[in-house]
Amino acid sequence: MCGIVGYIGEKKAYPILIKGLQCLEYRGYDSAGIALISESGSLNVYKAKGKVADLKVFCEDKDVTGTAGIAHTRWATHGEPNSTNAHPHYSASGRLALIHNGIIENYLTLKEKLIARGISFKSVTDTEVLVQLIEHIMISNDITLLEAVQVALHQVIGAYAIAILDRRHPDTIVCARQSSPLVVGLGAEGDYYLASDASPIAEYTDRVVYLNDGDIAVLQLGKALKVVNIDNETQHPNVKQIDVTLGQLEKGGYPFFMLKEIFEQPACLRDCMRGRINVDADRITLSAVIDYCEKLVSARRIVIVACGTSWHAGLIGKQLIESLCRIPVEVEYASEFRYRDPVIYPDDVVIAISQSGETADTLAAIELARQAGAFVFGVCNAIGASIPRQTQTGVYIHVGPEIGVASTKAFTGQVTVLSMLALCMANERHTIPVELYKEMVRELTLIPAKMEKALKTNEQIERLAPIFTYARNCLYLGRGYNYPVALEGALKLKEISYIHAEGYPAAEMKHGPIALIDSEMPVFVIATRDRLYEKVISNIQEVRARGGRVTAIVTEGDTQIQKFADHIITLPDTLECFQPLIASIPLQLLAYHIAVCKGKDVDRPRNLAKSVTVE
Ligand code: M6R
Repeated sequence: MCGIVGYIGEKKAYPILIKGLQCLEYRGYDSAGIALISESGSLNVYKAKGKVADLKVFCEDKDVTGTAGIAHTRWATHGEPNSTNAHPHYSASGRLALIHNGIIENYLTLKEKLIARGISFKSVTDTEVLVQLIEHIMISNDITLLEAVQVALHQVIGAYAIAILDRRHPDTIVCARQSSPLVVGLGAEGDYYLASDASPIAEYTDRVVYLNDGDIAVLQLGKALKVVNIDNETQHPNVKQIDVTLGQLEKGGYPFFMLKEIFEQPACLRDCMRGRINVDADRITLSAVIDYCEKLVSARRIVIVACGTSWHAGLIGKQLIESLCRIPVEVEYASEFRYRDPVIYPDDVVIAISQSGETADTLAAIELARQAGAFVFGVCNAIGASIPRQTQTGVYIHVGPEIGVASTKAFTGQVTVLSMLALCMANERHTIPVELYKEMVRELTLIPAKMEKALKTNEQIERLAPIFTYARNCLYLGRGYNYPVALEGALKLKEISYIHAEGYPAAEMKHGPIALIDSEMPVFVIATRDRLYEKVISNIQEVRARGGRVTAIVTEGDTQIQKFADHIITLPDTLECFQPLIASIPLQLLAYHIAVCKGKDVDRPRNLAKSVTVE
């Protein structure tokens, strides 16, 4: 996914745009570009391959004057990452510059028509087709930019958030959204900010408008925000107050956001539970469950849809809901679900889990579920994102902005929300004894303190990490609630250290992966004390017997496993169903330190984007 920033006002636009791009770099970072209407009235576009820092260097000797501009950080979909394909793209005459997040699906058809009319293209992007189309319509019909955008968007199939500058109207930005987020910030002096999410805007204003699908907004300096749709019907923007603080967005002394976010988890989970678990710690109140109690507790089946880390949280949610509420749960990759023609009943509850709330596949899965009449419930982090707006109800995880591309605190926040949801529903359905319910709620409130203890393993893990940097493959094993933790541990390692890793249910190992084991294969086993503990010990012995090097994550006080493991990482005890909240911490730290030892850019792993807003 790409990041969009814009500014129109009295201030110098360049520093605002560069800072905004840096804030959004987590969304994509193979190239970046900026368009400014200079003091002399020219429309200057500067682009560079690489990160925003490369763009800054490129701009050092350029004219970056002007108080109107748009900027973009790109994660390539059409065309390789280079400065030609980077945004902004000029229109044929050079009068317009446009930036775009999303995909224009029918761009080839549109391009052929434009070529037939004599228009030539510099890049291979779908975005350039859009800007040429808009200008062609504007000039050939002698209409305004807004009118041309409306006509053009009638012809476009796909997803987009776009922003356009017109050299002849230096006080105006026209922008539009369809299936790709766009937020307008309302400045105090009639000035406007624009971004893909609120983080680059928070420093300047706390008044924002989240554009809706189909909205086209005209940001004109000193004039009220105008929002219409493609048929020119006036839309009524809803101004919201945001409370993202700058401190939440900065690294706070940590070398990487990922490490900061790992260490923030105890505080984040306290925030997540605050106001939901009462002071006596014996009752959970989730307003979504109160408001839609009947729908939820009478669900015939629950289907969880998600991607990546959120899907792993969903696997834990399945075990929690099935064992506590006795409702069958299926967990689906949203990307498969949407194209599988799944059976969905009107009395199904579909839970969509997403940190960003913008994942395209998850949004499509929601749409499918809604069309089939299912009740759709969201578990999201980003406030005001598309998923919370397209689900009937839901619960925010409230862990604050997650900037590191590798998800950490969102995962534990999601598992915490799913734990609270399962407990609430079980209590309503009377499927667990009241005393057990209370004991579990109390234990959940102790998790942040236990996480703090788990974080004390950081130094030990930092010392261990160099041993594993040589590895080409790693195996992560766990059973029951710890199986999704194994999957998540393996995903973290793959994402940021580029070491191949597989998560496996420990007992399944002997049905295949055991053939891989030799003395070069590090095996990480989550062997906390639970129902399957003895069985996991047998699995460890199977690995050892084949020369495998075992690092075991165990419960404090364990004296058995150290006889068989090469390394032991000790964690505080908790209920089996909450173990993932504690056991994921050393695996996050392990992935982090291995990646740092290998000199990798932990917050910006290659080929990855923070939120995948395209298919
Ligand atoms: O924003 P979402 O939770 O919907 O994102 C889903 C995945 O793209 C995401 O979890 C991805 O797998 C992360 N990079 C994992 O660290």
